[in-house]
Amino acid sequence: MQNRITTTSLYKMKKDGKKITALTAYDYPFASMVDAAGIDIILVGDSLGMVVQGKENTLPVTMEEILYHTSMVSRACSYSMVVGDMPFMSYHLSLEKAIENAGRFLKEAGASAVKLEGGADVCDVISAISKASIPVQAHIGLTPQSVHQMGGFKVQRDEQRLMEDAIKVQDAGAFSVVLEGIPSSIAAKITKALEIPTIGIGAGPDCDGQILVLHDMLGINTRTLPKFVKKYADLNIVAQQGLKQYADEVREGIFPSKDYEYK
Ligand code: KIV
Repeated sequence: MQNRITTTSLYKMKKDGKKITALTAYDYPFASMVDAAGIDIILVGDSLGMVVQGKENTLPVTMEEILYHTSMVSRACSYSMVVGDMPFMSYHLSLEKAIENAGRFLKEAGASAVKLEGGADVCDVISAISKASIPVQAHIGLTPQSVHQMGGFKVQRDEQRLMEDAIKVQDAGAFSVVLEGIPSSIAAKITKALEIPTIGIGAGPDCDGQILVLHDMLGINTRTLPKFVKKYADLNIVAQQGLKQYADEVREGIFPSKDYEYK
């Protein structure tokens, strides 16, 4: 078995030019599959609000909900690094509250790092949490928790601001940064400028690693998907076939047959 991924292994992968793989997961069975597939980082994303809870956006997700999902994922992982996503308003009220909430991901849910959204505006939070020995992954560009402020899920194109945000989150102590929904050329420049690994989602091929939402790339999520998502499987179709066959066989008295009976 390969050694567990740590922040140190991620830095080395960037240095060695080895791409970092990342996916989201929200429960034990799927996290087991992702871990067994050798994916380097599993993010327990607040995207669970949309793809698991069926909500319009990520804002309603609570600390208690995401800790519950993170602990299921952590129990499944022996290789992947587990990162817990700090929900909207869990790191905005005070530095003390932000450290306390970040700490809960490590103490109660078995994660080894947290992620939070924002650039220059959240550097004091990144710095405070990192100083409490909790690794922080930053997230800049299209930040879904700011959907109302951004006026929708929109590609972010202000190169100067994005570069400043990236450098500032690195200087504040982030071990990595997610670049979401930005032009590939800007992501490439940021990746070159930073010492910490960049993980792209809708940010082109030149980031140090890539992340996708598991339920999008496996075809579980039946909503309209963003342009950057490639579907690697269609589990919804496979599940529908199995479910329909079960219903037909029960209705027609085919299941359970003798093979499935107790004598
Ligand atoms: O919540 C999430 O799944 C995320 C990823 C899309 C990066 O933040």
